[in-house]
Amino acid sequence: MKICVLPGDGIGPEIIAEAVRVLQALDLKMEMEEALLGGCAVDATGDPYPVATQKLALAADAILLGAVGGPKWDSNPREQRPERGLLGIRKQLGLFANLRPAILYPELANASSLKPEVVAGLDILIVRELTGDIYFGQPRGIEMRNGERFGFNTMHYTESEIRRILRVAFDAARKRNRKVCSVDKMNVLECTQLWRDVATETGREYPDVELSHMLVDNAAMQLVKNPRQFDVMVTGNMFGDILSDEASMLTGSIGMLPSASLDANNKGLYEPSHGSAPDIAGKGVANPLATILSVAMMLRYTFANEVAARRVEDAVKKVLAQGLRTGDIYEAGMKKVGTREMGDAVLAAM
Ligand code: IPM
Ligand code: MG
Repeated sequence: MKICVLPGDGIGPEIIAEAVRVLQALDLKMEMEEALLGGCAVDATGDPYPVATQKLALAADAILLGAVGGPKWDSNPREQRPERGLLGIRKQLGLFANLRPAILYPELANASSLKPEVVAGLDILIVRELTGDIYFGQPRGIEMRNGERFGFNTMHYTESEIRRILRVAFDAARKRNRKVCSVDKMNVLECTQLWRDVATETGREYPDVELSHMLVDNAAMQLVKNPRQFDVMVTGNMFGDILSDEASMLTGSIGMLPSASLDANNKGLYEPSHGSAPDIAGKGVANPLATILSVAMMLRYTFANEVAARRVEDAVKKVLAQGLRTGDIYEAGMKKVGTREMGDAVLAAM
């Protein structure tokens, strides 16, 4: 197992340190090597995804990422922004399938802003296409036209891009509750009419899975109205970006949610769904659990080691049951701990 570790910016290094300790404790045969991605890479090399990092990432079986970005780099030219590094690695490695589970841990039911009876038992998997859509479409830019500034981007999908992400969603649904909801905006956008058509066609290959379609605005509403109607949601890059943040908050804290970004051969990049949280960086208070749970996803998807994945996930459940909470999920009567203590507790529970 070759793992490329990219701590990144903000709280990235702190949460990655705990996830690495968990990986080491599993006592599996593996090699880990660290590299720079994001703002730290811009500072060191001028490039958010430097060649040295590209080499390691290309050679690795899996990549473990903390988070990238921060206000320090927000006014840099676009090529020197941390986000460009993240988009670059996703595209270069062909990581088209982004899996973002939103699971409510019963112990954290009160952390959700929705009523406990609406979110109890919530278990949604968002499958987001990650290397296409308006994120990467050309032409794009800001230029002068007719004496004023004109901004433009291009949304596009080929049918093969749509089909391969739909298959990921259907395959995932077969291991869950056999329901796929495909999200589009076919009433306005041709590109997503194609999405709906290809989703319907692909659905015929999976007669055992129930396929429904939903417009993205309605999907945003249904997620807060009745989120338990969903099993697997599949959508394009931009809608998936937005809906996955929304879904994550149903569970109370984005600090709990891992993610996987996979290529066609299950090589993957694993990262927490949250960002670099510059406001709490360096204070030792960030929640490392999403990153630790990302390690579990790595073990499951890239290394096909379900036993080790469960061991990590069970340890996380145990520390929650013990009442340990970082600030983001804290409530009265629980024991407030920092990043390191939370990592210690997970290791002890393992
Ligand atoms: C995400 C993030 C990224 C995205 C940003 C940081 C480029 O919001 O992973 O959801 O938009 O994909
Ligand atoms: Mg996002």
